[in-house]
This record gives sequence, C-alpha cells and structure tokens, in this order.
Amino acid sequence: MTATEPTEAVTGVPFTLNGKEYEAEQGELLIEACDRNGVHIPRFCYHKRMKPVGMCRMCLVEVDTGRGMKLEPSCMLPVTPEMKVETESEATKAAQDGVLELLLTNHPLDCPVCDKGGECPLQDNAYAFGPGESRFVEEKRHYEKPIPISDLVHLDRERCILCDRCTRFASDVAGDPLIHFIDRGSSTQVNTFPDHPFSSYFSGNTVQICPVGALTASPYRFKARPWDLDTVESTAMVDATGARVLLQSSQNELVRVLGVDSDAVNWGWLSDKERFIYQATNSSSRITEPMARGGGQELSPVRWVDGLSSAARALQIDPARVGVIGGARLTVESQYAWAKLIKGVVGSDNLDAQIGDGLPAVLTLGLPRTTIAQACAPGGIIVLIGPDPKEEQPSLYLRIRHAVTEEGATLIEVTPRATSLSDIATVSLRSGPGSISQLVANFFAEVGSVEGVSDAALAKVRSLLNTDDPISVLFGRGNLAESGRYTEDALGVIRNSRPNAKFLPMLRRGNVVGALEMGFSPGFLPGGVRNFGAGLENWPDVPQTTGKNCDGILRAAAAGEIDTLVLLGADPLDDFPDSALAHDAFDGVDTVIAVDTFMTASSRHASIFFPAAMFGEVDGTFCNLEGRLSPVRAKVTPPGLCRPDWMIAAEIGSQLGFDMGFATLAELRAEISSTAFSFAKVDWAALDNAEDGPLLELDRDWDLEFGEPAEPPVVASYGMRLIVDRKLWDLGTMTQEAGHLASLSPGAALHFSPTDVQMMDLANQSYVTIDHGDISFDLPFVSDHRVPPRSAWLPARLPGFDVRKLLSAGRSITSVRVRTSEAN
Ligand code: SF4
Ligand code: SF4
Ligand code: FES
Repeated sequence: MTATEPTEAVTGVPFTLNGKEYEAEQGELLIEACDRNGVHIPRFCYHKRMKPVGMCRMCLVEVDTGRGMKLEPSCMLPVTPEMKVETESEATKAAQDGVLELLLTNHPLDCPVCDKGGECPLQDNAYAFGPGESRFVEEKRHYEKPIPISDLVHLDRERCILCDRCTRFASDVAGDPLIHFIDRGSSTQVNTFPDHPFSSYFSGNTVQICPVGALTASPYRFKARPWDLDTVESTAMVDATGARVLLQSSQNELVRVLGVDSDAVNWGWLSDKERFIYQATNSSSRITEPMARGGGQELSPVRWVDGLSSAARALQIDPARVGVIGGARLTVESQYAWAKLIKGVVGSDNLDAQIGDGLPAVLTLGLPRTTIAQACAPGGIIVLIGPDPKEEQPSLYLRIRHAVTEEGATLIEVTPRATSLSDIATVSLRSGPGSISQLVANFFAEVGSVEGVSDAALAKVRSLLNTDDPISVLFGRGNLAESGRYTEDALGVIRNSRPNAKFLPMLRRGNVVGALEMGFSPGFLPGGVRNFGAGLENWPDVPQTTGKNCDGILRAAAAGEIDTLVLLGADPLDDFPDSALAHDAFDGVDTVIAVDTFMTASSRHASIFFPAAMFGEVDGTFCNLEGRLSPVRAKVTPPGLCRPDWMIAAEIGSQLGFDMGFATLAELRAEISSTAFSFAKVDWAALDNAEDGPLLELDRDWDLEFGEPAEPPVVASYGMRLIVDRKLWDLGTMTQEAGHLASLSPGAALHFSPTDVQMMDLANQSYVTIDHGDISFDLPFVSDHRVPPRSAWLPARLPGFDVRKLLSAGRSITSVRVRTSEAN
C-alpha cells in the first residue's frame, strides 16, 4: 500500500481500517475515506469527478458490514458505522492479483512503444499488486492498431481495459456521447459509431483520464517519455475562465498540456483548445526578431534598439493622436507596464483590450461579482444572458452543465439562439432583436407580453425567481450583429430589480478581466480607478479626459485623427466586427506598431514589429472572469529575440527618457500592489503555491447608473434576423498556427430553422443568396433546430465567408434578405 500523510481528521462515521479506528464523512465512499486517511487502494475506473460504476473490480477489498468479511468494490460502497475494512488481507491481495491477471490476459503489453509507458496505472498496479506472471498462453485478442477516432485522438483497442472512464466522461460530463462500448462478451470494445468521429470539444480529457495507453493524443504521440518531461503548473490563457494546467516540455519544446484539478475553476477538465493550443508556441511561423520598414519598403529585421527608438519617436506626438488596441493576450504584469507607458507616460487614454465584441468596463469591473463555485452551487439559480458558453468558455460550460444535471441548479437562459445548454435548461428563452431588457423585466414583474415568448414561460421564470436566494447572472454578447447596449440594459434591469444578484462576465478574450483591472479601457486607471484627477504614484502623467474605445479609435483613425496605432496582440482587420471600418482605419494612420507573435492581417501593416514571447515562455499572472489570480509560467525559452511584453514597454519608456521604475518581475509586481487598490493585498510570492488562486478583493460600491433601455431596432418585415456569434474553432491566428487545430473550423454556412427551410422550399437546394444593402453573396445552408424561426445564424470568422463584411460597428444589423441561389 502506498501510504501518504493523513489529512486532517473529520468527525463523522466511525469505521475500522486495517485494525485502526477512523472517521469517514457522511455518505463518503470507502475508496475516498481510505485516500483521505492515507491508505491507497488500487483502482482503474474510479474517478473523483465522475459517478462510480464499479467496472474494473480493481478496488476490491475485504469488508465486514456486520455479516462477516466479504469482497466489495470500495468505489461503490459508502462507509457505514462500525464497518471493518481490510485492504492488506490475503483475500484482498488474492482478489487484486486475480483482477490484474485477468486484465492482462488480452493486454498486448507493448509497453516499449506505448505512450503511456512510465506513467501507466496498469503498469504500476501490475508491479505493486499483480501476480508477477501470467498463466495465459493462448493467442491474445487483436485489433487494428491504432485507429484515429478524431483529428486529435487515436484509439488502440487492444490496450483498452473497458474501464468506462472515457465513455462516462463523454456522455455524462461533456454531454457528447460519441464514444461507446460496442459488441458483447469477450468481444466488447470501445469505439465510435461509423461515420461519427469523436469530434467533441473535450476529447483530450479522455486521453488524460484513460488509465492505459488505449487513447492517445495525436499531437503528443511518440513525442516524449514521462521521464523526459519537465513540468510546471500554469494557467490556460485562451479564454477568460483561466483553467489550471500543467505545461510539459521536452528539450525546450512544449509537448503536452494536462488539466489540473482546481476545485474553484476547471476540476481537471480542459477544452481541446486549452489543451492543444500550445502547438502555436512551437510554430515555425513565429516572428522572432524585431522588424521595421522605411517609407514604402518591406518589413525587414532591425536591431532592437533601432526599433525601440523608432517606436518612441512615433509615440512622441499629441497623445490624442495615439491609439492602442489589444492586450488581453498579455499577463497582468505586462498589462500594467503597457497601461503605464500609454496612459502614464505618453498620456493617451485611447486604450482598449476589447475589440468591438465586449461590454463596457464599468459593468465588468463594477457589478458585484460571483464565483464559478457560487454560481454552480447545488440548487443555485443561474441566469445566462449571452453567447453559447460551450463555444466561448468551454471549461465553464462543463461546470454549468454539471451544476444543472447533477446538482439541481436552475438554469434560465436568454439567448438569441438555442445553445448547447438549452436541452438541460429549466427555461430556455429566445431574445428577439433588442428585446432582452423587455424580456428580463418580465422576470421580476409582469410588464407586458414579449413577441415570440409565451406568457407561461415568463410566469415560470417569475416563480423560479420569486425567492430571496441569490441569483448568478452570467453575461456576454450573444449577437455581434446587434449593439451591446441591449445586453447592458438587461443587466441594468436585473441590477435594479434584484440588488442581491451577483454577476460573472463571460467575455471571450483570454486575460481580458486582468486587462480591464489594469486600465485597458478608456476612462480607467489600474485598480478600477475612474478619477483621472487623482493621479497615480509613480506615474508622471495621466490623461485628463476620457479617451476612445476600440470602435472610437478605429473611427478616429479612419478620419485621419490617429497617427500612431499600437496593436498589442490584436488583429482588428481580421477580428473587429466591422471589417470595412477596420480597413479604413488602417488606411488613415501613419504608423502601426505591432507587438505580436505572428504576422497577422493587421501586423502585416506594421511599420515597426516587436516579437513578443508568448504562452509557455513568460512568467506572470492571469486574472480570470471571477477576478481570481493564478500563475502563468515560463516553461521554455522564447525563440530568437522575442521578449516579454512588459520589457518592450519598459524599454520604449526608457527611449522616451522615462525610467519606468521596474527592471524585474518582482519590482513590477511591487509597483502594481502599490498602485492598483485591488492588488494591494496580493501575496505574489504565495501565488504559485496557492491551490485555487486568491480572489481580488473587489469592494466596489459604485453607483452604477442605467438609463432608460434603448429602443429596439426597426425590423424590416421582409427580412430574416441576423445572428452572429463565434465558434470555438475559427480562423483565429492561434488556432490556425496550432498544427492539429488548424483544420477543425467548419466551413461558413447559414443556419436556418427547419420551419424556414420548409417555408422557403429549400429542401432540394444547397445554397441561398443573402442580400444586405449593396452586398449579395451565396452560401451553403443547413437546417438547424437551434435557430428560431425567421432568423439566420452565421458564425463569424469561418472559412468560406466572413460575415463581418455585413456588420457595421455601433449599428444593429437586424435583417437580411434571403432568397434561393442561382448557384444551386
Ligand atoms: Fe504497457 Fe500500460 Fe501501455 Fe499497457 S497501457 S502497453 S501496460 S504502458
Ligand atoms: Fe477505459 Fe481507456 Fe478503455 Fe476508455 S479507452 S474504456 S478510458 S481503458
Ligand atoms: Fe472500483 Fe473500478 S475502481 S471497480
């Protein structure tokens, strides 16, 4: 038995374990009570985050519940008072021996070529608890080895021990029942159905929890052995959930990312984007040296010092003519450094980390915040106003899904189209164009019918919310074709109607909450300070008037009012919802300074390009949507001449003749604590070891003012309502540079409700034509029950068509005309 240090004793159910007295928690499974008391029982199918099934019998132990000793699977048995347990008796050992001998009869034991070798529970258990030899001399079962069951996962059925972990995860946790047991008896195998690959956003989790080498990840196959790997704990930065991860490298190359079981955040689960995006770090397309161009010339390598002095010159202008977009890719430390450079030294307030798809910082920072655990608590009430969490924050989606399916949480969903949670939501409502606030007002009092929503559904929501229990509101932009103002109004209605409601911003971009905390929004300084007159210690200057957000910066640039545009990992040409405005803006500026990792549509226009170190190469801090801090760690050295973003800011500052006051990360952190109120009490030294990461102390008693809700936009009677949102896999730069992920984006297609397909008589057609203003284009379409009638859903940034051509910043595009295409 592996003995670990017993953890703190709890009072509860007394039982005897190997002759000693212990106490279990009420209802605690025997295997867990033994774990907690430092006695390890071997197991394969048991997993802390899934329901036990008793499949493998590896955890058999002798137990006496008052009727004499007998063998019981300890993962299925709750501890009862006076239970006697023997984990080391002869009978227990014989049972473990027998189970292992049976498991190994058909097992290929091709450990030398198996990716699991060296970290394999079957190997470990066979050594520790197995018989040492096999009596099975017959031919073993054989299957084709291995078969790809998706773009990311290979299956070697010979190695499978039928533990039911992958199948349970797929169906129970992810809600994607795409991998199953098929056939019967000794022919039972795990597999996918023909023509239905394991194309789940969460497939990599099955690889991580498979106790043998049956499931392997395509990006990691034969890359390294466990004993080659160096590991650090870090935080995923692809979205604002901030899942905890282990980064593993071999020979200074990132080769694997594993989920860490953080109670507060991701429970060990990761989306495939969080798990496999590290491949972008290894991409050969990285830009690894500073570049600049003379008038009209190509970008070509320059010395750092020359690039930095050119950038400083370009920033020594009227601060109102400087605009900075991006920053959500950066660590908190780098965000502070850039905020100080732009706001405190250059003096410009034109700084925005949200690229036209977010919500005002005053809401994200000022609404009382809840945590994931509070929102997903047993019996809790969640109101979701925004995009499909599975597409935008997949790890958070898993927590919400678990809360609803397993913990009795109530989910009230208000979204423009059905989401991945609609089937399990207690009430799922569709918000029409600009109608969210009217709909939400009906949650608290009957204020009039809402088109397309039944009065019965609204009455049901009222009765569900007729409680003093706190409600958790998860909010974001559900439809990029419509103004964010409607979402703001709906939040105002909730805030005013239920003062005890708590909020969780579901903003899409990685460290966006950290960026807003550091002042990456016009009108804000680090720590949520809104009073420009106050000034900041260590900052020589602060803007005296509120600057422009991304939309305003691009408009000003298009009007020739911005001379220098700085892009901090931002690609407005490919990312801002209004592509025409973004192009006009780039035509209107003199100098573009790009601080980035790849050549993007936007950074290609740079006059000066600074190569930044990226995820896996920098140390720093992440601030997730809860305001929870967690470490971001360097595992490999950046290629070429790449540098952390904060160093680039510090050096431009020094080129401007100002000593930024920090030359190390520790000095930078000390200054953040002394400048930003919300970071005053952060114990940076303890951050790396803090299990779940500390929450920022946000005691913001802001008097948020919500005006009268905006009038809904006028809807043309001939048209279909346009719904635009984002898919997990799209043409984003990181996804496209991440090897195996690049091909996962689906092609652009319009989604219609089956009713509309029937009404438009499209059964025998493949294409439709969309008309909007002067723009007309053909697209394939699909019938999709998630789309409400008279609506056309078109996800952005997919191969084949960029819907951003239709969008216009600040103006809601509510209707498009759809007709049968001649392309059919
Ligand atoms: Fe060996 Fe484990 Fe791989 Fe089986 S799964 S071949 S025991 S390393
Ligand atoms: Fe278990 Fe792995 Fe087989 Fe799935 S593939 S049933 S996780 S052994
Ligand atoms: Fe208990 Fe598998 S771990 S039966």
